[in-house]
Amino acid sequence: MTAALSTRLTKQLGIAHPIISAPMALAAGGALAAAVTRAGGLGLIGGGYGNSDWIRTQFEAAGAERVGVGFITWSVQRSPGVVAEALALNPVAVMLSFGDPAAFADQIKDAGATLICQCQNLNHVEQAVRAGADIIVAQGSEAGGHGAFRGTLSLVPEVADFLSTRSPETLLVAAGGIADGRALAASLLLGADGVLMGTRLWASSEAVVHPRHHETIVASNGDDTIRTSTPDIARGLDWPAEFTARIRRNAFTERWHGDEQSLAANTAVEGPRYSAAFADGDPDNAGVFFGEAAGLIHSIEPAGSIIERVIAEAVAVLRSGASYLR
Ligand SMILES: Cc1cc2nc3c(=O)[nH]c(=O)nc-3n(C[C@H](O)[C@H](O)[C@H](O)COP(=O)(O)O)c2cc1C
Repeated sequence: MTAALSTRLTKQLGIAHPIISAPMALAAGGALAAAVTRAGGLGLIGGGYGNSDWIRTQFEAAGAERVGVGFITWSVQRSPGVVAEALALNPVAVMLSFGDPAAFADQIKDAGATLICQCQNLNHVEQAVRAGADIIVAQGSEAGGHGAFRGTLSLVPEVADFLSTRSPETLLVAAGGIADGRALAASLLLGADGVLMGTRLWASSEAVVHPRHHETIVASNGDDTIRTSTPDIARGLDWPAEFTARIRRNAFTERWHGDEQSLAANTAVEGPRYSAAFADGDPDNAGVFFGEAAGLIHSIEPAGSIIERVIAEAVAVLRSGASYLR
């Protein structure tokens, strides 16, 4: 290993590099999580809406690597036993996003797992601190998948300031649009202890992603995504109104974004059509979930190569930063 960065995150989690992989529903299975951990980061399995069988299978796929798991909070609140089942698999960390973490916080911490809470605004950060979060992920709107409307560049330092007075022992991780070493270095300078990457690792050979969806991200730039509720309406998912999903703009979004009421009225037809298109890897007629970092991604690579390059780039950027000083 030629390059390394040491932060509070690497020390607290006992990892070599300050990078966590996002627990991406459907896409972040055990193979990706294990590859990220093997490369020196911390890999999280995408527990998503809470399918116990899938989660167990993915922990098995991760083998003996230290991995964690993430859940969509409002969804697992409806089937809370899923979190207890996952804790029995000994995750290093549990990440909760999109809902008040209070109901699960004690259970997670009592099991000895690190509690990570992903937050999209300062209200969420207050809730997470109150619940006893060990790590807060400040997620900006550039992010792929679900999120809200604050941009990463101002959200991260604002949360850093908040934590420095209100809960200095809580670590901060930046997310949203982070796909290379420049953004990792910038995140550290903004006050984060590390980063969480989704889109960049979605575009890895270990992610559970249809090859045609992978072709789409390589051909896309950062202008090609949109925040929309249309995939949730088509799938009949009851997402709280404050969250939308960032996905590839395509024929599906052209047809239904802005005409959500019609989509909602047609889910009996459009729901199965959407599911079939997703399963077929049809990039035009279902949601292809990735973020604005698409414009920085030019090939599908093994997760380990991505992590190694991001660290080497960040070290180079941080070293060259001294050149600005007079
Ligand atoms: C395909 C995809 C699926 C995602 N699914 C989840 C999820 O199930 N739970 C969650 O907390 N975040 C999810 N996210 C959001 C990530 O946790 C993270 O905030 C985001 O990927 C960071 O921004 P980036 O995509 O620009 O790296 C997802 C992101 C992507 C790209």
